[in-house]
Amino acid sequence: MTPKVYINGKLYDKPDAKISVYDHGLLYGDGVFEGIRVYEGKVFRLKEHIDRLYDSARSIYLEIPVGREQMTEAVLDTVRANDKRNGYIRLVVTRGAGYLGLDPRKTTDPQVIIIVDDISMYPPEMYDAGMEIVTAATIRNHPNAVNPRVKSLNYLNNIMAKVEGVRAGAMEALMLNHKGEVAECTGDNIFIVRQGRVLTPPIDAGILEGVTRDSVIGLARAIHQGGHEGMLVPLRPTKQRVSVAPIEDASLMSRWRGFQPRSCTFRMACAANFGVAAVKRVSAPIPEVR
Ligand SMILES: Cc1ncc(COP(=O)(O)O)c(C=O)c1O
Repeated sequence: MTPKVYINGKLYDKPDAKISVYDHGLLYGDGVFEGIRVYEGKVFRLKEHIDRLYDSARSIYLEIPVGREQMTEAVLDTVRANDKRNGYIRLVVTRGAGYLGLDPRKTTDPQVIIIVDDISMYPPEMYDAGMEIVTAATIRNHPNAVNPRVKSLNYLNNIMAKVEGVRAGAMEALMLNHKGEVAECTGDNIFIVRQGRVLTPPIDAGILEGVTRDSVIGLARAIHQGGHEGMLVPLRPTKQRVSVAPIEDASLMSRWRGFQPRSCTFRMACAANFGVAAVKRVSAPIPEVR
């Protein structure tokens, strides 16, 4: 079945889903987006993603032309139109088409785009055997420049670090902030388990406030009375290859399963050389049932 793409209230077959080459989303990465999972026909934490989209838009002075409720319905309608029980939603709002200058006031008609498609995961064996990541020399954007909390269409910072990882033979790269502290990976938040406690860098480290991150902290707090945020400092210099040890916290999973029969599995990248082990296959309930 050809994917159906939503653009400004209408569904188009994928080959016909087009926007202007003058759109500032294309010309400058001027816009915001969300990446959302669908598990067994249910959209995971849709409200949190919609809220973050509007927060991101507000911080770049982009007015989204539809309200949150209408946006929520548009996402759900597009999932239904694509009959996608398990997959990925890419929700994008661009600044819109304008002149070939930076000034956003010269743009008109922000484009609201919703793509529902399959998700490409890491190779399955990595979920059991772990994966290697490298610490990138490219640092995460300074929060006073392009704040990592804003999920903007401008992902070049992450892409440069990703390229470093790929060139070093790794599928993910760990990014430090301007102070040399651990921030996050190129497309994932990072967790470590140290002495039975789940730790993750705080938002102040200059990271995206991940929806998955929030779920994991909630789970850790519920089950382990843990789930601490703490600044992590690498013990070794950057460009160090680290291996990710898979840990499957069986007690966490099985005890959780005891509470919640339906769960989903997160994809996570984690590092090992900070006395760190990977949190992998963390199971969580699907809170947003629509
Ligand atoms: C830089 C970055 N950090 C973290 C995440 C994880 O965020 P979430 O759990 O909200 O999908 C993403 C996801 O796109 C990301 O791009």
